[in-house]
Amino acid sequence: MRLTICSLSFSVLLFHLFPSKVTADDFPPIVQSDRGMVVCVNPEASDAGLAILKSGGNAVDAAIAVAFALAVTFPEAGNIGGGGFMMVWPGNSAGSNDPKNAQPVCIEYRETCPAAVGRDSFIKEFRQEGHHTVGVPGTVRGLALAHEKYGKLPWKNLIAPAIQLAREGFPVDAVLAAGLNRLNQQTQAFPEFRRVYGKANQVPWKEGDLLVQPDLAATLTAIATDGPDAFYTGAIAQKLVAEMQAGGGYISSEDLANYRANIRQPVHTTYRNHDVYAPPPPSAGGTQLIECLNILEQYDLSKSGPKSSRTAHLLAEAMRRAGADRVRHQGDPAFTSVPLQLTTKEHAKRVSQSLRMDQATRSEELAPDLKLSDEPPSTTHFSVVDGNGMAVANTYTLQNSYGSRVVVRGAGFLLNNEMTDFNWRPGVTSRDGRVGTEPNVMAPGKRMVSSQCPTFVARDGKLRLVTGSPGGRTIPSTVLCVVVNVIDFGMSVRDAVDAPRWHHQWFPDRLQFERLGDPAYATLMNELRQMQHEFGNEVKQLGDGYRRQGDAHSILIENGKTFGASDWRRTRGKAAGW
Ligand code: DON
Repeated sequence: MRLTICSLSFSVLLFHLFPSKVTADDFPPIVQSDRGMVVCVNPEASDAGLAILKSGGNAVDAAIAVAFALAVTFPEAGNIGGGGFMMVWPGNSAGSNDPKNAQPVCIEYRETCPAAVGRDSFIKEFRQEGHHTVGVPGTVRGLALAHEKYGKLPWKNLIAPAIQLAREGFPVDAVLAAGLNRLNQQTQAFPEFRRVYGKANQVPWKEGDLLVQPDLAATLTAIATDGPDAFYTGAIAQKLVAEMQAGGGYISSEDLANYRANIRQPVHTTYRNHDVYAPPPPSAGGTQLIECLNILEQYDLSKSGPKSSRTAHLLAEAMRRAGADRVRHQGDPAFTSVPLQLTTKEHAKRVSQSLRMDQATRSEELAPDLKLSDEPPSTTHFSVVDGNGMAVANTYTLQNSYGSRVVVRGAGFLLNNEMTDFNWRPGVTSRDGRVGTEPNVMAPGKRMVSSQCPTFVARDGKLRLVTGSPGGRTIPSTVLCVVVNVIDFGMSVRDAVDAPRWHHQWFPDRLQFERLGDPAYATLMNELRQMQHEFGNEVKQLGDGYRRQGDAHSILIENGKTFGASDWRRTRGKAAGW
């Protein structure tokens, strides 16, 4: 066993209380391991996954344990009431010589639209939280499908760490304490939220307090004992439907009973002698990432380096084009045909014809066929590899932080507000970024388009990078930045995660940059302005005035060694290896 922790000091307390000036000293250590690694946003959940690896579980077993643990310790986005995408790299543990079994797969467990909702149901609805925003949850079916296909250890062993964390409690960190205090002030309309996540007499949480969740422990115990049916047709389903009826939500018992997770073939491209795999529709994020890489491959980025206006310009122009294609084409493939050509090199060549090296394209020019009239979120991503070369990249979400704010009465878990990922107002696509195109309008049973993009990068058939991120529409941009940092600029996983990130999503026609306003980047920004890029950071700025884009807990495998880097942008996270 070998475990090396580089000796970067980490000023935990200071960073948690005041995520202001983040310096190299604040970055969590890079962790190296030979026998397996879990990198995620929460230390208790990383440890739960590592314990499963140590007890003989594979990467999928560990990922399932992490996902259930995060539903307890990271209620902002960890969930059983939401949905997501799990990419599985079967590695050597596939146990078969059939090359098909060695191909990565995507387990898609995206939420669906309840049967009682029609395309125009939300036209006059502006509330982003509450019972009406809840899509039929996919997480429990998705994790069960992953277990059925790849799991090694018994299902109930994988939920045991989460049950223990819920029953015995865990110490909240400063970020969770602040989040719960903020939410408890804002959620007068959600008494069950306040009962489950509030302290007695609504005394504020402080770092180190124990959060105990007995209802959630009982719910998880039912799922551990009776399997996913407890959630979809059993006592938990009854509580969920009663909650919907009490609060004016749409989900019925049939919606829950009919929910299925899917195994899908990832989208794929080659990029500078690497293979890149990402989730297919109903994730748009995977296709956007692949389209960006295909565009960028035509230019030598290493020539200009990571901190040049040429590189930033090319990233922006690639993101802008992929963003426009998303709006035009992306929807649930069961309802709309998403053109396969979007991930081809020919398509990248075609859309690059309008790309000028000296000047930003106006987003409007990319949408002559779209009628244009004049998105605080949270998701979480984690990466796992085991000692047999199996790996998991999993991103899942409740959509906004703490989702719809609806906690199922007596069951102790939060429900998503994923319905807000549909195009609410058909026909209204605006320059401020609202999308009303047809492929993603609501329909019963349909999956809403997602940006989630858990990703694998391989070389010569061997896995090199496992990454992904939260961040809504910025997700494929964050993943693109990490991939390019590794492949084009040869960065270590630590540097690739830490480097400032770019984002462009077509509309609003503005380039976002994490270090906007940092004097160290003044020259670069001026050069981009001369090319007529406009800047604006949509996401609220934090602490030091710089915004944070994403939270990319990543693993890089180099020369047989596994390196993990947790991202510091949301909380400290943890890379746990052995
Ligand atoms: O699936 C999606 O694209 C969104 N629901 C993700 C939301 C998100 O990433 C919020 N996180 N920061």
